[in-house]
Amino acid sequence: MRETARGFERYYNPKLNGELRLDTNTNSMGPNPAATRYLSEGRWSLDLYPNTYSDGLREALAELYGLQADNFIAGNGSDEMLDVTFKTFTNWGDRCAVPVPSYTLYDYFVKLNGGSAVEVDLTEDFQLDVDAIVAQKAKIAIMPSPNNPTGNSFRTKDLEEVLSRSEGIVVVDEAYAEYGTESMIRRVEEFDNLIVLRTFSKAYAMAALRVGYAAANAKLAEMMMCVKIPYSLNAVSEGAAIAAVKDQDFIRRSVEAVRRERPVLAAGLRRLGFEPFPSDSNFIMARSPIDHAELVSGLKERGILIRDFGSKRRTENCVRTTVGTAEQNALLLSRIEEVLSQCR
Ligand SMILES: Cc1ncc(COP(=O)(O)O)c(C=O)c1O
Repeated sequence: MRETARGFERYYNPKLNGELRLDTNTNSMGPNPAATRYLSEGRWSLDLYPNTYSDGLREALAELYGLQADNFIAGNGSDEMLDVTFKTFTNWGDRCAVPVPSYTLYDYFVKLNGGSAVEVDLTEDFQLDVDAIVAQKAKIAIMPSPNNPTGNSFRTKDLEEVLSRSEGIVVVDEAYAEYGTESMIRRVEEFDNLIVLRTFSKAYAMAALRVGYAAANAKLAEMMMCVKIPYSLNAVSEGAAIAAVKDQDFIRRSVEAVRRERPVLAAGLRRLGFEPFPSDSNFIMARSPIDHAELVSGLKERGILIRDFGSKRRTENCVRTTVGTAEQNALLLSRIEEVLSQCR
């Protein structure tokens, strides 16, 4: 096996038995209605290739954000955009700064593309340690804001400072930015080293279709475009994504629902003895009052999946749950109560 891929293990792939899925931070309002309508109309030329670089979607995104189509690269989920980013800019052995705790797949993409992942701890309150990141002199520094799994956004002034003090590329992964209040995406032409990643898997409720995109100044975007696999975004998903971009009302309603239910769920968890952390996302990380693995398996037996982060450094005994609908959250809390009473 190639040296840079040795030691890799398969990604999270739970055996499913009809459970309620609160483990992957998807939109609990159900599938995107505009995309669903588009799919039900079903008029595609399956014999033809999709547009090589998803120009239709890139133009729709340019209109949405007031940028140019040449600021965007679209592909098969933001995971492909992560891969393209590291593939485009990492030389063998280059240092890439990855915050701890953050998205588990960063490490994989850095190593896969020959880089060397340098872990930089977030501060006690899960904010960026700007000096520590800049001190790494990394070729690429990556950070998700809002952060997964902790849920909080990073301060804009800290992101700006990392950008202005770093010579390397700074990637701000905004997979959950629709739920937050600030974003860097409209500012990509302001910085020569900023790449912003976005996805249709979360607020857009289209995880099954695998659509993601990157935004950057036109010069960086062109470099990434030349590295990206041509046609990697299929025509069906691209069409559904264009339809979804045009229905911003669904995004607004989805965000409002999360902002309404999130404090209710956090209060319910606190009542049961959890320590929930502040969230600007559609999920909450919380420290469990009982053993994390017992909690997660007890819930699975009762038909609910949440995600276990309890064995990882900085998130000891913590679990993460999607903010569901009011009914889903009530069900989750009552099932947690059952698990707790069985364990005590
Ligand atoms: C921070 C972050 N980045 C990227 C992704 C990947 O998203 P996609 O489904 O677009 O590949 C996720 C998915 O959970 C995520 O949490």
